[in-house]
Amino acid sequence: MRRLRATESIRNLVRETSLAPSQFILPLFVCPGEGVRRPISAMPDQFQMSVDETVRECAEVKRLGLGGVILFGLPETKDELASGAYAEDGIVQRAIRAIKKEVPGLLVLTDVCNCEYTSHGHCGKIVDGDVDNDATLEWLAAAALSHARAGADIVAPSDMMDGRVAAIRRTLDAQGYTKVPILAYAAKFASVFYGPFREAAESAPQFGDRRSYQMDPANGREAMREIELDLEEGADMIMVKPAMPYLDLIWQARQRFDVPIAAYQVSGEFSMIEAAAAKGWLDHDRAMMESLTSIRRAGAGIILTYFAKPAARLLG
Ligand code: PBG
Repeated sequence: MRRLRATESIRNLVRETSLAPSQFILPLFVCPGEGVRRPISAMPDQFQMSVDETVRECAEVKRLGLGGVILFGLPETKDELASGAYAEDGIVQRAIRAIKKEVPGLLVLTDVCNCEYTSHGHCGKIVDGDVDNDATLEWLAAAALSHARAGADIVAPSDMMDGRVAAIRRTLDAQGYTKVPILAYAAKFASVFYGPFREAAESAPQFGDRRSYQMDPANGREAMREIELDLEEGADMIMVKPAMPYLDLIWQARQRFDVPIAAYQVSGEFSMIEAAAAKGWLDHDRAMMESLTSIRRAGAGIILTYFAKPAARLLG
């Protein structure tokens, strides 16, 4: 076996898996104000950015040839009804319009969820101490529609309510947005690895946790069922999230479903590598590229990752 490993040129020739910047989607956190670029302490080199700074960031993302960006919003105020999630002039809606105007051609995805917009931090409407499924669907459909109206290219629901893909598809179609695809966070687990994100998006639940709607990390068969249901409801693409602890499920999904598969290398996966590298315990760039390569090898064609910019730079 070692004959084909002897030199860099032979290794390049026989490499089975490759990465390209066009497969990476960079998550961005949009906040109110102007000229704001606030570092997120648990996520080195990641920032909460006002709309103008987000636009500048997007211009660089386009220059680097990334696949696109996915937007998360930090509204001015939060309330019980998640009003900011579906407001026509909400923070994400304004960011989409600005990016579409200033950086034409850049693919803009939006995360469709309520947890950044509710005063209690849960992903939907609270009834009797729990998130009410069907009441929440109306908010989600309204949010997706407001994103589409603002010019979003793809909407990506991440809430894990039952029936949300069908509800969003129905609303988009009824309002004439038949061409906007849905990327469903289909198999999304109740993961500890979202910890740093909740600081970044200020979306930690104020009571309880998300286990009554996000999946149990122990369940792989159930993940396949979630994906199947989202596809039946009209999802165009599906996602597995987090990525590295769930490579087996990316692989299984790749074998079973002939649709584009995305994987989200989440905040905790990113921060673990950053922290170990900062301590000198891991080589940053090699850990970054090996983690991304493993996600690709497992079968994800699209990777949402906070490493999108440095990885694209390394790839040249
Ligand atoms: C919103 C959402 C979350 C993430 C993406 N969309 C947080 C959560 O579900 O608590 C996590 C992303 C990351 O950790 O990088 N529901």
